[in-house]
Amino acid sequence: MPQSNSDSIGPSHVAIIMDGNGRWAQARGRPRLYGHHAGAKRVREIVEACPDLGVKYLTVFAFSTENWKRTQAEVSGLMTLFRRYISRESRALVENGIRVRFIGDRIRLDETLVRLMDDLELMTADNDRVHLTIALNYGGRDEVARATKRLARDVAAGRLDPEAVDAETLAKYLDTYVLPDPDLVIRTSGEARISNFLLWQSAYAEYEFIDTLWPDFTGDEFARVVGDYAVRDRRYGAVPG
Ligand code: FPP
Repeated sequence: MPQSNSDSIGPSHVAIIMDGNGRWAQARGRPRLYGHHAGAKRVREIVEACPDLGVKYLTVFAFSTENWKRTQAEVSGLMTLFRRYISRESRALVENGIRVRFIGDRIRLDETLVRLMDDLELMTADNDRVHLTIALNYGGRDEVARATKRLARDVAAGRLDPEAVDAETLAKYLDTYVLPDPDLVIRTSGEARISNFLLWQSAYAEYEFIDTLWPDFTGDEFARVVGDYAVRDRRYGAVPG
């Protein structure tokens, strides 16, 4: 067990790669979408665990720019799931003080889904108990490319001096510009990859790779992982004092 130290505070922003839905379903002889539905149910439990753990920001990876390569049936099943999730959960999210934001490129998403996303962002805009960000059609490289395009347009239009561009400038063009960087990134299902998730923002994040498949990831296990983070010593590249 690592020694507790002066940096022993919990993570304010936790990001999660929710992986393992397909294998969870397969292990039960059920279609992959059954696993995604079970996975969606877990999201509420994890969001609700956040306030007691001091987690103010939770960002979850729901659909990546690479996920379009899955079968048409799985992709359309997931899109239906997202629409239903937003419709069914919106009331509870509003009432429970959850502020919802979406990151990712909306261009490929269907109109109905985008409208539901916009509405939910608006409906929860005054909430502040937990800031839930859902990454939908999100890819880290795609986000940096889109940010760079907007930045280049500002330079071309004379609104931005290219000599003044630094890391902080670029960060302001990212989808996450209002969010702090994640302190802890969790990936379930035993895979130790970051899969294009929050590439820029996670430069100094701690990573936890957990064997549990996402539909089995409970609030208790989340609390344990968050607790383990609190005893780590983050130095941000500095020499230990
Ligand atoms: C990865 O499991 C999971 C996804 C691609 C979808 C994530 C979606 C959810 C958890 C449900 C919806 C969430 C919200 C916020 C509404 P996988 O299919 O890659 O699993 P596998 O690696 O076992 O095949």
